[in-house]
Amino acid sequence: MNPRTPAFPSKTPNMGTTIFTVMSALATEKGAVNLGQGFPDFACDPQLLDLVNDAMREGLNQYPPMTGIAPLREAMSAKMQALYGRRYDPVSEITVTAGATQAILTTILAIVHPGDEVIVLEPCYDSYVPNIELAGGVVVRVPLTPGSFRPDFDKIQAAITTKTRAILINSPHNPSGMVWTRDEMLRLQEILDPTNVLLISDEVYEHMVYAPGEHWSAARFEGLAARAFIVSSFGKTYHVTGWKIGTVAAPAPLSAEFRKVHQFNVFTVNTPMQYGLARYMADPRPYLELPAFYQRKRDLFRAGLAQTQFKLLPGEGTYFQCVDISGLSVPEKNLGEAEFCKWLTSEIGVAAIPLSAFYGNGFDQQVVRFCFAKRDETLQLALQRLARL
Ligand SMILES: Cc1ncc(COP(=O)(O)O)c(C=O)c1O
Repeated sequence: MNPRTPAFPSKTPNMGTTIFTVMSALATEKGAVNLGQGFPDFACDPQLLDLVNDAMREGLNQYPPMTGIAPLREAMSAKMQALYGRRYDPVSEITVTAGATQAILTTILAIVHPGDEVIVLEPCYDSYVPNIELAGGVVVRVPLTPGSFRPDFDKIQAAITTKTRAILINSPHNPSGMVWTRDEMLRLQEILDPTNVLLISDEVYEHMVYAPGEHWSAARFEGLAARAFIVSSFGKTYHVTGWKIGTVAAPAPLSAEFRKVHQFNVFTVNTPMQYGLARYMADPRPYLELPAFYQRKRDLFRAGLAQTQFKLLPGEGTYFQCVDISGLSVPEKNLGEAEFCKWLTSEIGVAAIPLSAFYGNGFDQQVVRFCFAKRDETLQLALQRLARL
């Protein structure tokens, strides 16, 4: 016998370790304040933990229905109707997923045939491109306008061809914090109207939009909703990113295709958390109060950064704040965003994420992203350290 591991051609030869993992590891090694990866460093509501715990103790620990438990689909449907004015049938149009990441991958696997084009607006969340490639699709990258990160509709229009299967949008936007306006959503609706292009609308930060802004879900637009998979994440909304649980809302024919892939990909999502979340959602206050909760943190963080030579970019939504580093007086600002972030983590003790990580070609515009979903003490400590710059 000659035991050996057979070699095979990698399906993902260009995929490396994500910058989030790299920066988090460096932050731990150097004892830096980790404002890199996007997750809260504070606890969720203990009532939510009690409700999940209750569900486990009640014996709700076996496989739930493939599409998710009815009370959670019903709670999502009621919430979307109340907030966005559109009724999604909980039976045929809402599916519970293992987080938004799985929801997006499953959507792409369900709709993209080899050779289909899928438009992404860069900078974009890092899973989109590998997902499209795994499905055999062709990634068509359209840049958001540098500086403002607003959609450039001439470029979007020009990117649409007879091969375009879908466009992926994300509002509120990670990494920039930009929030699409009603007019921008209307413009997208107008452009897509004569086409067969499907829409994947990543709305995981839907409850983090700051006054006077508003979240213009694709669900609020008839023409968009008719072609959209709308992706939500409980992890973002309820401070439990590690739970990996979300939903996809889509018209019945789209949901049917989604579910065909979902049933042989994840099949079901953990039961007690679904019951806990469904019961917790009976009270709308936690998500209705989220904008004020994060707006206060954003304002605290922005006020501190305003005392430094970082130039603040707008922060309309999400729990991210981007800054321009070109005005700093340290020479390390010219190292390139990624090296600057490593230096900032090692020498100043605050981890950030380079925006270049969200572009396929590593486009460098001297902008880095901080996450402010942190306790006030954490933000104060980071600001103290950044004040040295
Ligand atoms: C834009 C965007 N989409 C999707 C996700 C993934 O969400 P989940 O943790 O529910 O998979 C994230 C998480 O950072 C995100 O920022």
